[in-house]
Amino acid sequence: MNTPSAANTAAPSALTWVEASAPAKVNLILQCGAPAEAGGYHPLTTVFQALSLRETVRLQRRDDHELYLTQEARTPADEPAELAAELSDLDPAKHLAYRAVKAVLDYAGIDAGANIHVIKRVPVAGGMAGGSADAAAALLAADTLFATGLNESGELDVLAAQLGADVPFCLQGGLALGRGRGDELTALADGPTRTWVMLTNQRGLSTPGVFAQADHRHALGLEKLSELVEAEGDIAAALQISQNYLLPAEVPTELTEAQSRGLFTAENWQQFLAVLENDLQLPALDLRPDLAEIMEQAAAAQLPDGTPVVTKPIISGSGPTIAVPVQNLAEAEAVKAAVQGSETLHQAIILTGPVAGAQIDASGE
Ligand code: C5P
Repeated sequence: MNTPSAANTAAPSALTWVEASAPAKVNLILQCGAPAEAGGYHPLTTVFQALSLRETVRLQRRDDHELYLTQEARTPADEPAELAAELSDLDPAKHLAYRAVKAVLDYAGIDAGANIHVIKRVPVAGGMAGGSADAAAALLAADTLFATGLNESGELDVLAAQLGADVPFCLQGGLALGRGRGDELTALADGPTRTWVMLTNQRGLSTPGVFAQADHRHALGLEKLSELVEAEGDIAAALQISQNYLLPAEVPTELTEAQSRGLFTAENWQQFLAVLENDLQLPALDLRPDLAEIMEQAAAAQLPDGTPVVTKPIISGSGPTIAVPVQNLAEAEAVKAAVQGSETLHQAIILTGPVAGAQIDASGE
């Protein structure tokens, strides 16, 4: 007779609760192509870096077969919890943590109940994949609590991609090249740890809205080009229009040598700044022109002795969070000081990356 091994008998299914976390992200490169059909997903080539700000999902078995969702918002530094305004508006069917737990149970054919408690630290609708991090943490928590084996078999990645384009990356973490919708990942060596000042905003931006604005710019660019041809304008002007407005039918799927060197060479700061790019930046700024001023203030930051901080603020993902790369904490403080007083700025959070993807932080029987 085959007796189960000790490892198997210490069944994870004896657990009554688990706590998992997953990271926020910033896109170091985000190249966006035109969707194959109007309103469809945009082909992307992107480099994700996982950031040291994590969402936590605590999952606890219930005796009945219900799923209950609660949420608390915390400041990034984990200062005393404050109840978020959106709490009363929690709609489980729309919450990615709830949908992730349900997806695992449905897929594994398990009829069980759980309390799902989300601790939110990542700004909502901020371009840092907070919702996707909730999903990733919840997927791993459910897989562990109910011992589904889906993570080990790779099926958790499939569920992740179904929940959203950024969810597979939040599960994987580190540094990765994303293709397709951003969900076809190739892990990259971590490279040097980078420090960021993330400038979060009082008001969120809708991701579909920013992609739609990219499409709108594309249509506008085509119009401008045909006007230019009629007026027999010059090549330089056409190039400018193409760069600022048009989405290519296909995006390059590999990193260039310069991009790779910029990402992985710690010594050459200028080279790193040069590779940072985001095709969603102009569309996001169309919708939120006020962000440009904060970006300018951050770019003009100076150390107390007057030395300029060499940096290049970029929009994080679809925004409105602004990501400002810096070389040390003194520069981070200088950036914070430079943007103080802006009306819509919510917080300036100092983070580092890359960090690990979704992980189990605690569990109990
Ligand atoms: O996959 P996710 O739910 O995070 O995407 C949110 C929205 O962003 C999509 O419904 C789509 O409008 C847009 N999107 C896109 N192309 C991508 C990723 C997202 O158009 N590659």
